[in-house]
Amino acid sequence: MELNGQPPRKRKKPVIVAILAMHDDGKPFRGNSQNFVDLIETGLKHGVHMYVITPRDFQLKRRSVPAYAYDRATNTWVRQHIPRPVVIYNRLPYRKDEESPEVQEILKKCMEHPHVRIFNPSFFNKWQLFEWLRKSQTTRSFIPHTVQWGRQVRLLPLFAKSPLIYLKPESGKAGAGIMQLRRLKKARQPYVLNIQSGKAAKTYRFRSIKRLKHKLHTLIGKERYIVQQGILLSHHEKRPFDLRVLVQKNGRGVWSLTGIGARIAGSKSITTHVPRGGSIDDPKKLLSAVFGPEEAERILRRVRIAALSIARQIESGSQSALGEMSMDIGVDAKGQLWFFEANSKPMRFDEPHIREKSLVNIVLYCKYLANRPKRKKKDRGA
Ligand SMILES: Nc1ncnc2c1ncn2[C@@H]1O[C@H](COP(=O)(O)OP(=O)(O)O)[C@@H](O)[C@H]1O
Ligand SMILES: [Mg+2]
Repeated sequence: MELNGQPPRKRKKPVIVAILAMHDDGKPFRGNSQNFVDLIETGLKHGVHMYVITPRDFQLKRRSVPAYAYDRATNTWVRQHIPRPVVIYNRLPYRKDEESPEVQEILKKCMEHPHVRIFNPSFFNKWQLFEWLRKSQTTRSFIPHTVQWGRQVRLLPLFAKSPLIYLKPESGKAGAGIMQLRRLKKARQPYVLNIQSGKAAKTYRFRSIKRLKHKLHTLIGKERYIVQQGILLSHHEKRPFDLRVLVQKNGRGVWSLTGIGARIAGSKSITTHVPRGGSIDDPKKLLSAVFGPEEAERILRRVRIAALSIARQIESGSQSALGEMSMDIGVDAKGQLWFFEANSKPMRFDEPHIREKSLVNIVLYCKYLANRPKRKKKDRGA
């Protein structure tokens, strides 16, 4: 039927997006449900319907699947059937869940499916990140010298680069298992080991590298660790700080910089994590205090450019489709930038402007994916 000579408007199908969380016996799912509520609410403002699904319920062959809808009136999750989603946002909360064979099988099927678009299919491994970033000349300049822990590791050449060394579990997060080594000049026990424990760090001192390494072997055991050149971070009121950068694809499917935050280390901590006594501050303010306002602006501009190249290089290294990542970037006294890690399941940013923009970006990127057919087979995931 034509009205006034105009062809009838095609009704757009609603965009359905599934947030992938983990099934749990005691509650509907494991995952950051407050984060999911915020996303769902943001989705509604942009015509995107978001639900939480779990691997146990997810069947790619079914036309409809059980999922959890958020009911605002009762602030509860309601189980209901939804049409099989085409876009899946992976927010499986733990590596252990994600690595289980049952979950791996589902993720693989989603990535290979001709229509289903999944992004950020897995957590990053710290060692791999550095391997990928080493391969490009641009990103290589941002990485501290890094090797894998093992019997063959030689600490002296690393101490020759910096009086500080960091040891970090390849699969760690939020400061868990991080150790810091220092070499003091003219001390009877020149090797100092600090281990992050709660909000403070435990300290051990050693006379020789041999004794230090012996202790490290007993502490690390079979766990996989990286050993990294320590960076002397810029500091504010005697506390080191670093930057937390959020990079996301936008509604056009293009990597964009969502925001930059800063974290100052707690007085007794060897990291800048807030749960470990660190605090949030404004990057422009901190950098201006160290470098002056103009140089601070230039540094932030360089951080934006660096973060985007790093994101692209990580995406190509991972050979999977990514839609977002957060990064920890340090700035040394000369204003040089150093990449410490990237996270494929970014934690929420407490800065309201970054938080809000991050939610909108995810929603618009999902919408973009939903309206665009999946490309060649070789593009795994989205
Ligand atoms: N090579 C390094 N030099 C100086 N500080 C570092 C180094 N690596 C990590 N840190 C500090 O420790 C924090 C946590 O390290 P990170 O690699 O992000 O591990 P996690 O996964 O535990 O967050 C960083 O934000 C930074 O403050
Ligand atoms: Mg970190």
